[in-house]
Order: sequence, then C-alpha cells, then structure tokens
Amino acid sequence: MPKISQWFIGTAVIYVIVGMIGGIIMGAQQDFSLAPAHAHLNLIGWVSLALMGFYYNANPAKAASRLATIQFWVSTIGLWIMIPGLVLTLRGAPSGEPIVIAGSIITLLGMVLFAVAIFGRTPSRA
Ligand code: HEM
Repeated sequence: MPKISQWFIGTAVIYVIVGMIGGIIMGAQQDFSLAPAHAHLNLIGWVSLALMGFYYNANPAKAASRLATIQFWVSTIGLWIMIPGLVLTLRGAPSGEPIVIAGSIITLLGMVLFAVAIFGRTPSRA
C-alpha cells in the first residue's frame, strides 16, 4: 500500500476511535450537545479520509504525486481546525465561529484538491 494511503487510513482510524469514545461519553452523560462535532469527526475524519486513502491505494501513480501529499495535509489541517472550532461553537463560545469557518473552508479546499487529483492528469513515472 502506498505510504500516503497508510497516512490517510492510519490517521482516519485514530479519528474514529476518538469519535467513538466521544460518542460513548455523550451517551454515558446523556449530554448530546457535541453530537455535530462527533458526527463531523467521524464522517470527515474517518469516512472521507479513509475513502481517500483507499482511492490512492487503487491509483498508485496518483498516490506518488506531490498533490496527494499536499491534499493529505490540507484535509488534515482543515479537520484539526474545524473540529475544535465546532466544539467551541457548540459550547457557546463566540471565538469558535471564525475557527470553524476557517476550518470548514480549508476542509473544503482539501476536497477540491482531491477532485483535482481524481480528474487531473495522472503523473507519468520517471
Ligand atoms: C462507539 C461508537 C459510537 C457511539 C457510542 C456513538 C454515539 C452517538 C451518540 C450518543 C449520538 C447522539 C445521538 C442523539 O443526539 O440523540 C450520535 C450521533 C451521531 N453519530 Fe455517533 N456514535 C458512534 C459512532 C459513530 C460513527 C462511526 C459515525 C459515522 C461514521 C457516527 C455518526 C453519527 C452521526 C451522523 C450522528 C448524528 C449527529 C447529529 O444529530 O448532530 N457515529 N452518536
């Protein structure tokens, strides 16, 4: 498996473990106020990033491109900014809003770069 796929899937499984623990804590405390943060961590962090990892595994030439590495970091940094911003916002902190907006836009950019990786020219092997 290409290294970039390992990174996508390896980090995704960490996000889902954190997300599941968060889900169990929500259930135990009967406080579901952070449910949207839990949902986005699981659906972007686990489902979306793991899918990207499997895509690159199926397309090794694209996995070897610099774009794949850039896309990994843009998507990762977007998630790292978006989820804490979402938690702050859901907790009622006004400071969370610009953070969640910035994180969401970076996360969107990561997905646009993924689309470019899919539809763009496959780099030829040197
Ligand atoms: C141990 C595993 C998990 C536990 C204990 C758990 C627990 C929960 C709880 C307690 C809620 C809130 C329910 C409510 O508001 O009434 C929730 C919502 C949700 N969970 Fe999970 N969850 C788990 C895994 C996952 C995974 C793997 C995903 C997605 C891949 C996911 C996606 C969602 C979504 C989309 C919602 C709805 C959020 C909303 O209404 O804003 N969960 N989960």
